[in-house]
Amino acid sequence: MNTFEVYKLYPIAIESAKGMELTDTEGKKYLDLYGGHGVISIGHCQEDYVKEVSAQLNKIGFYSNSVRIPMQDKLGAKLQQISGYYDYKLFLVNSGAEANENALKLASFYTNRSKVISFKGAFHGRTSLAVAVTDSPAIQAPINKTDKVYWAELNNIESVKQLMDSDVAAVIIEGIQGVGGVKIPTTEFLKQLRQLCDQNGSLLIIDEIQSGYGRTGKFYAHQHSGIKADIISMAKGIANGFPVGAIMINPKIPAKFGMLGTTFGGNHLGCAAALATVDVMLKNNYVANAAAMGEYLFGKLKGHKAIKDLRGEGLMVGIETVADASEIRNRLLFDEHIFTGFSGGVNTIRLIPPLCITKKEIDRFVEAFDKVTK
Ligand SMILES: Cc1ncc(COP(=O)(O)O)c(C=O)c1O
Repeated sequence: MNTFEVYKLYPIAIESAKGMELTDTEGKKYLDLYGGHGVISIGHCQEDYVKEVSAQLNKIGFYSNSVRIPMQDKLGAKLQQISGYYDYKLFLVNSGAEANENALKLASFYTNRSKVISFKGAFHGRTSLAVAVTDSPAIQAPINKTDKVYWAELNNIESVKQLMDSDVAAVIIEGIQGVGGVKIPTTEFLKQLRQLCDQNGSLLIIDEIQSGYGRTGKFYAHQHSGIKADIISMAKGIANGFPVGAIMINPKIPAKFGMLGTTFGGNHLGCAAALATVDVMLKNNYVANAAAMGEYLFGKLKGHKAIKDLRGEGLMVGIETVADASEIRNRLLFDEHIFTGFSGGVNTIRLIPPLCITKKEIDRFVEAFDKVTK
C-alpha cells in the first residue's frame, strides 16, 4: 500500500543522526537547524536519552491510565522545577494538537462558555478545535468551520477588547507565532491580554508547543513578559522525538473524573523519554545555552544585506529575506547540506535547532547563508 500523499517531500531519506547532524541513505551528512519541526531539543540520539529509553523498554513500555504511573508525578515535579509554575497540574497526551484540544475543552468546561478568541497568523494544530483556532482556511474541512472562534490582531489589544464578551471561555495565543513566521507578542500586549482575561472571567491559554521548552532562553517564551498563563500547552521538544504532548493547568481549575482522557498519553515509555530529556536539559543548562547561542546568532546576522527583517528570541529565529526565501532554503539544503524551516506567507526562513547548538554550527550556517545570498 502506498502512503497517502499529503506531504511535499524532499528527495532525501535520513537513516541516522547524532547531535546536530543527520546522515542520509547515501552517506551524505547534513547540519540540522530545524530539528524536524523543532522537536529535537537535546540533540539526536543523545547518549543518556538512548540509555534511559532503552532501559525503560526492557522494563515496561506501556500500561494505561487505569493504574498509577509514578513517572508521571516525577515528570510533573521536574516540570514545576524547570518552569517555575510550582503549583500547576500536569495532563499528558500525545501531540501538540491534542494538547490544545484538551486546553480549549478544559477552558470551556471550567467557564461553562463556548467561544474562543484566537489571532490572525496563528497555528495550533489540525484536530477539530485546534484547527478551528488556526488561521489557515485551507486546512479546515467544512466540518471544522465554526462561528465559535473570534479572530483578533496580534499586538492590537483594541481588536481583542472589541471581541471580548461573556461567552468567551478563553483566549489562545502562541508564546511566539511559529508557522506564522516568528511573530512575537509584545510584553505590553501580553500584560493587557492577561488583565482583559481576568476582567472578563476568561482563561488565557498559551501555546508553547513550538516556542517553549527552553527554546527562547526562558523555559516558556511568555515568561520574558513576566505574565502567567492559566493553561500552557507543550509538545515538540518535550521528549526529543518521542510523541508526547502535555498541558499545565492552573490549580484553580478543578479536575473531575472522566472530563479528559487518553489511552496512550503519559505511558511509561513516553514518560521515560520526557524525563531523560528534561534531565539532560537541566544537566547541560540548555535553556541558558539557547539564550547565549541566540544572542550570538542574532549578532552575526544583524544588518545582513540579504535580510529584510530579523525576528525571534533565543533559538527561535525568523529570517525574512530580500530574495525568495524558498530558493535560499533549497540552496542551503542541496548545496550546503543544512536543514532549515520556512514560513511561506512571510518569505521567512525559520531556524529552530536543537538547544545543544554551539558557535561552530552557527558559524557554519552564517558562512553558508553568506554564500547562497551573494
Ligand atoms: C504552535 C503550535 N501549536 C500546535 C502545533 C501542532 O502540534 P502537532 O503537530 O504535534 O499536533 C504546532 C505544530 O507545528 C505548533 O507549531
